[in-house]
Amino acid sequence: MKKIIFSLLVALSSVSAVQAADANAGKEKSVTCSACHGPTGVSASPMFPNLAGQNDAYIIKQLKDFKSGARTDAMMAPMAANLSEADMADLAAHFSGLPSANEQAAASASTGSSTDAAPVSAPAAGNVEIVASTPASAIYAGNVAAGKDKALACAACHGADGNSLVPMYPSLAGQSANYIAKQLADFKSGDRNDPVMAGMVAALSKEDMNDLAAFFAVQSKNAGTGESNEVGHKLYIGGDADKGVTACIACHGVAGKGMKQAGFPSITGQSKDYLKKQLASFRDGSRGNDNNGIMRNIAIKLSDADIEAVAQYITSLK
Ligand code: HEC
Ligand code: HEC
Ligand code: HEC
Repeated sequence: MKKIIFSLLVALSSVSAVQAADANAGKEKSVTCSACHGPTGVSASPMFPNLAGQNDAYIIKQLKDFKSGARTDAMMAPMAANLSEADMADLAAHFSGLPSANEQAAASASTGSSTDAAPVSAPAAGNVEIVASTPASAIYAGNVAAGKDKALACAACHGADGNSLVPMYPSLAGQSANYIAKQLADFKSGDRNDPVMAGMVAALSKEDMNDLAAFFAVQSKNAGTGESNEVGHKLYIGGDADKGVTACIACHGVAGKGMKQAGFPSITGQSKDYLKKQLASFRDGSRGNDNNGIMRNIAIKLSDADIEAVAQYITSLK
């Protein structure tokens, strides 16, 4: 009997030695994944699968397939491209060890609604405000007509219809409402620093922010008029595997329109000056309001020449 237990233990320890997967390391590596798959592996958007409680061997196989191209997905390909086998094993150990979506829902139900704790599947820090099955009226939580009146104060810089004529000032037209509302809240809290905008938002209530966001979100944005750039195009659609830069297309989309549900902004129709300034600010950390450092982690790997090229390319997106 002792002998059996002993050999079982040896077998078990050698299994874990072979896998050598580290769930804690996986947790750290999963920061980039959480924007889409949720911080607890439960996605808040119907477009992204849950990973919590999934079998680890299955997760590893999918990641390998995304990397090799055996399974194709425009979002997952660049995510998997930079993962080593050890990364995949660590990530799989992390996600497979998390309670499943049902278990997480049951746990939050049984802790009762009297606590003010956020539901387990709430996006981290409320930054990536994923709207899931929320009806359109709730996505545009604000009132467009009220927003129009309030937007008079913004017109001098952002344009009456949200299309800015001055390169320093970003266009807001057609931007996702949740992204605009988040930026306004971040300027107010100081998570995003800009002396001009800090003054503009100081007196805005949450309702004002939602109304303004709703108004600008339904304006149509002018198409980009810049010239394309070959190096920038390559970086945008393919990333840079050597430097570990995720392709911009994964989150900002083929046409730069972003992904409203995931909180990824539209970046079309912006001036090259504005784009360069934002990328440089993410790179040096002076803009640090991106959830989980999602943009800082990318920008830190970009050279000045990369920023110049990719910003030029983005101005050509229609
Ligand atoms: C930009 C959004 C996005 C990010 C970031 C992202 N994923 Fe995904 N992931 C997706 C989408 C979309 C799918 C579904 C692909 C499909 O439809 O085939 C997916 C599918 C998967 C699957 C397959 C699940 C299944 O049930 O078949 C795994 C595993 C996975 N992702 C792991 C990861 C890991 C690990 C990371 C971080 C390194 C990550 N993903 C980052 C969007 C994303
Ligand atoms: C005096 C000029 C000025 C006025 C007026 C102004 N803004 Fe801005 N706004 C700016 C500048 C400059 C930035 C870019 C800050 C940076 O570089 O990070 C900006 C950025 C923004 C952003 C972030 C855009 C993005 O793509 O991330 C939002 C949202 C915004 N402003 C909304 C508003 C709203 C709403 C009003 C009116 C209540 C307003 N602004 C009034 C100058 C102005
Ligand atoms: C994994 C997803 C992801 C990838 C990949 C990604 N971004 Fe972003 N990007 C974001 C998010 C999220 C934000 C908004 C952060 C915030 O909440 O302020 C953002 C913001 C930006 C902004 C600022 C927009 C504005 O209006 O101020 C620019 C410019 C930008 N990204 C360019 C790029 C470029 C260029 C690449 C490729 C080199 C890239 N991004 C890759 C997710 C991503």
